Amino acid sequence: MPLPPLLVLYGSQTGTAQDSAQRIARQAHRRHLHVRVLPLDDYDVANLITETLVVFVCSTTGQGDPPDNMKNFWRFLFKKSLPVGSLSLLDFAVLGLGDSSYPKFNFVAKKLHKRLLQLGANILLPVGLADDQHDLGSDAVIDPWLSSFWAKVNILHPSLLDVRPLRDDELPPTFTFHFLYGDEVEVKTEERRLHPVEPSVPFPARMLFNRRVTEKSHFQDVRLFEFDIAQSNIAFTAGDVVMMRPCNAAEDVEQFCQLLRVEPEASFTLQATNNCTVPARLPQPCTVRHLVETYLDISAVPRRSFFELLSTVATNELEREKLLEFSSAAGQDELHSYCNRPRRTALEVLADFPHTTAELKMDYLLDLFPEIQPRSFSIASSLQVRLPSSQLSPVKVRETLFHNMCVCVCVCASGDVFVPLWVKKGSLRFPTEKETPVVMVGPGTGVAPFRSAIQERIAQGKMANVLFFGCRSESKDFYFRSEWEELKTAGLLRLFTAFSRDQEEKSYVQHRVRDNAELLWDLITHKNACFYIAGNAKQMPSSVCDALREVFQQQGRLSAEQAEQMLVTMERTGRLQNETWS
Ligand code: 2AM
Repeated sequence: MPLPPLLVLYGSQTGTAQDSAQRIARQAHRRHLHVRVLPLDDYDVANLITETLVVFVCSTTGQGDPPDNMKNFWRFLFKKSLPVGSLSLLDFAVLGLGDSSYPKFNFVAKKLHKRLLQLGANILLPVGLADDQHDLGSDAVIDPWLSSFWAKVNILHPSLLDVRPLRDDELPPTFTFHFLYGDEVEVKTEERRLHPVEPSVPFPARMLFNRRVTEKSHFQDVRLFEFDIAQSNIAFTAGDVVMMRPCNAAEDVEQFCQLLRVEPEASFTLQATNNCTVPARLPQPCTVRHLVETYLDISAVPRRSFFELLSTVATNELEREKLLEFSSAAGQDELHSYCNRPRRTALEVLADFPHTTAELKMDYLLDLFPEIQPRSFSIASSLQVRLPSSQLSPVKVRETLFHNMCVCVCVCASGDVFVPLWVKKGSLRFPTEKETPVVMVGPGTGVAPFRSAIQERIAQGKMANVLFFGCRSESKDFYFRSEWEELKTAGLLRLFTAFSRDQEEKSYVQHRVRDNAELLWDLITHKNACFYIAGNAKQMPSSVCDALREVFQQQGRLSAEQAEQMLVTMERTGRLQNETWS
């Protein structure tokens, strides 16, 4: 009996789900299965009715939303017109990646699992719910889940047991590198010019300024950047985010090349060994420096699969033993203390295994290292406002970000710094009606999208703006203080602040929400206000919602259930929205 083809579809925001999907694909290769791995939105979902064996690997983002690269699939799958029973040929398994400290833990995976069942697909095993909060990381769930998955596949397709699985060291790498010499480089570069491979090019925005917004002596160095996008066609509204892809620091790239004993300026082309496609973002030919600097995530803490793969190529006995231990189930505690706790980077690990690294073939690099993922930053200004500094027009993006961010910058001859960036729609939606008040709770950098919203709203003549801002100290990290005070004086903003460390007792935004119960009740029930929460403190949104429930109970004399119902209704109708990040 022929072996079944396996399709691994993933929805990944930060690359974790992609990493797990690729790991499943490697295991499938070992079992001689014909396997395809794709982001969900790159797959023609209409074909799902003909598939027989699919693993879905999906993460859940902060608010219980699907990752960006499965949004279209998600919309399609929940269409009411899909006939029940249409997926009856399909055997499926769903692996979810999530974080149990967020309220909607693994929401996407659970919902997907349910929907596939509803459409008549056949369940292979219960949905896997990996948890970042687990002491031993998400592998503590993924590994046993994968063992059960393969056991089920073996039962369904007993012919799989007739062939000897390949050992890890017999597995071919996904891509092979062909180094180019002399004239070859020129010829290949010329060919590329005729067939450009880059799908879309981010706009190289000139950095206009990079300003620290925390006081000098404060330990957090939070920055506001301003970029010139006047020559681009970028547009955005309040709540949208700027995307940038970090790159590795030049000295890390040097060290990496030295450890691997490769020449940074060497050029190569990539060829896929199975039916994967060569990453479109990489030019062909590419230099080793470009690959390491812009593509391979060598600065992240490596996952267990990294050690598994490295152990298969290690020949030095001592190093191999250690790597095998880190790859084994019994070695996970030790791997955790070696890697996760001190947040050791993949590059540092390579330096700890110098023999293995020196022998490492370039061919394995794309299997070993995940791709660097873009990071998102809240835009903290509005296109509709003309700032005093930009009288003569250039449209500017403003946003906050942290100092240790190394974005892919290029400095041109004039000394100008350019940052490739693009803009993505955010999830917050602000009301269009002029009279509708908005209440915004944005402690710390959570205030960024609200600065954008306030600027935009004031430019549109929307005057009912209420902001709850929290930070550690009035004198150290009160971002945009003078701006808020100016707006307050002008009667365009009601501002409530909570400085958590200026006194013995913690003072948080949720305390200010409780203090202003009467005002909030009036705004929400009589003026139809919308309520927004943004920030990066994990517990903050739920504490603010608790405070809101109390406000409802106290002011509206509601029972706990009624207050909860009111909150749920606000959420369902878009009058309560939140955006959190970590
Ligand atoms: P803290 O660091 O003193 O605990 C911006 O980061 C502000 O959010 C800081 O003042 C921080 O206070 C506060 N913060 C931290 N955890 C919070 C929570 N669970 N709820 C509300 N605010 C919080």
